[in-house]
Amino acid sequence: MNFQNNSVGILGIGSALPEKVLTNFDLEKMVDTSDEWITKRTGISERRILDENTPGSHLGTKAAKRALEDAGIAAEEIDLIIVATETPDYLTPSMSCIIQSNLGASKAAAFDLNSACTGFVYGLTVANQFIKTGFYKYILVIGCEALSKVTDWKDRNTCVLFADGAGAAVVGPVEEGYGILNTYIGADGNLGKNITAPCCFITDEDKAKRESENKRVLWMDGGEVFKFAVRIMEHATVKVLEDTKITLDDLKIIFPHQANIRIIDGAAKRLGVSQEKVFTNVHKYGNISSASIPVGLDEADKAGSLKKGDNIVLVGFGGGLTWGAAVIKWSK
Ligand code: ACO
Repeated sequence: MNFQNNSVGILGIGSALPEKVLTNFDLEKMVDTSDEWITKRTGISERRILDENTPGSHLGTKAAKRALEDAGIAAEEIDLIIVATETPDYLTPSMSCIIQSNLGASKAAAFDLNSACTGFVYGLTVANQFIKTGFYKYILVIGCEALSKVTDWKDRNTCVLFADGAGAAVVGPVEEGYGILNTYIGADGNLGKNITAPCCFITDEDKAKRESENKRVLWMDGGEVFKFAVRIMEHATVKVLEDTKITLDDLKIIFPHQANIRIIDGAAKRLGVSQEKVFTNVHKYGNISSASIPVGLDEADKAGSLKKGDNIVLVGFGGGLTWGAAVIKWSK
């Protein structure tokens, strides 16, 4: 395939969240916590949770349909579906194959990618390469999570933080000079032990950390992740901007991964940017991992906050541990 230019960007964006709202007051009845503690320490007031019988792919499918509609592109035109997820419904078929079937995207290849909360930035990076080389034209990148299904609902250290949601973007050729200007991704597996969610194997050490009988639940050393997150969000933002040769002053808004308002504020302070330049919605949805950034982008786009030509940064961190950032000149 040959395109007129080499610019790749977001053509359409969509999101989907479960209807069920779980408030801090609901959590007060489940574990030894309080609305005051959760609000003060995390900034989260409520989050959305899937009911037990609904799979995460349901949200990913909905978000993808909305993104396709927004882009004005048919499912049959999609060449590849990348689903970023750390909570796939099945190991096989992958979440991307389930969603491919739900959409009727019969031409599309499909694979899942797991870099936890950084997944959407990783997915965007992969899609950018495939399209830039001319190998594919249209790629769906979906961040889709059902963290409620791996949460230990008796562990107050984690159950107040995580939730469910999905966000999707149709990525394809855009007007020259617009779209994804640069991406930067990284990982440090030596720090992986700080957030674990076992699947087919679990070490005795990780078993011992879990009080729940179900050992497949998510466990986290919140303090260690907190310190890493503030430092790496600053680093990834500075690095991707330097590599792109643009400055913080050239940016309209930063979309950070929504894990904890104190992490976002801490990173913003280190960067020296005002709060108005940083998008937040963590109070409504909690930490929805790979879905966090595209859900935020969709909200901002639908609210009319993004104008063609605005420079934005997406920046995330997460399990692995992983991190990543992207600079985009908005092209819609
Ligand atoms: N309600 C009340 N008290 C609580 C709660 C709760 N929900 N959770 C912990 N506490 C208690 C602790 O037990 C501790 O009590 P102690 O002093 O008697 O031991 C006290 O509060 C302070 O605990 P800290 O862990 O020091 O609290 P902190 O201010 O660090 O906040 C938090 C904890 C919110 C987990 C924070 O460390 C954090 O946000 N970490 C980063 C998490 C994150 O961003 N993860 C993202 C990656 S996730 C992914 O990829 C899936």
